[in-house]
Amino acid sequence: MIENDSFFGKRAYFTKRKILGTICDKIYEKAKLYLDTRQNDIHVSIVYAFAHQLLSYYPEADEDIVLPSILLHDVGWRMVPEEKQLDAFGPIVKDSETQLLHETEGARIAEEILHSLNYSEEKTREILTIIDGHDSRQEALSLNDALVKDADKLWRYTPTGVNIDHIRFGIEQNSYLDWLGAMIDKWFLTSEAREMAREELGKARLESRQ
Ligand SMILES: [Fe+2]
Ligand SMILES: [Fe+2]
Repeated sequence: MIENDSFFGKRAYFTKRKILGTICDKIYEKAKLYLDTRQNDIHVSIVYAFAHQLLSYYPEADEDIVLPSILLHDVGWRMVPEEKQLDAFGPIVKDSETQLLHETEGARIAEEILHSLNYSEEKTREILTIIDGHDSRQEALSLNDALVKDADKLWRYTPTGVNIDHIRFGIEQNSYLDWLGAMIDKWFLTSEAREMAREELGKARLESRQ
């Protein structure tokens, strides 16, 4: 019985994903105008792939919430001058006001984009709540929120994320990899994301030795 439930859950997920693909394309078309800073174009495309993977483990999550939240979560960085960005994220956040600004501006821009596409008002509310607090709020408000938070952080563990981040934070690569390893249990909210983080970290370590 449980197997049947999960089978139908997965089938529903893939059928719906096809239809949702078109609206996500439209959201991304508008979001990408704001992603040409802080390597956010690369960040968001990697995080989007992780979100799909996490959604496949949780058919009860709402991809109509999770996927638009992912595409739009970091659009607010576009409103932060590049010279101010580096103090507002990473291992040491010196400027938490700017960190909050990228979240509130992100929610504002996301609202404009979703309204322009006549996206469901109820779902828009939840998406904006997730975006406004995606970095500063440690706890998840819902399963949808947890999947967005976990997908976002998984980026840090990918070979691409490690290469970009350790250079911009000015941390030697091996020390950075060790620090990431030590943060897995603290940061991730789902066991699947923890496992994925370990896997990505393994790839990043291998790549760093080549
Ligand atoms: Fe962010
Ligand atoms: Fe992000």
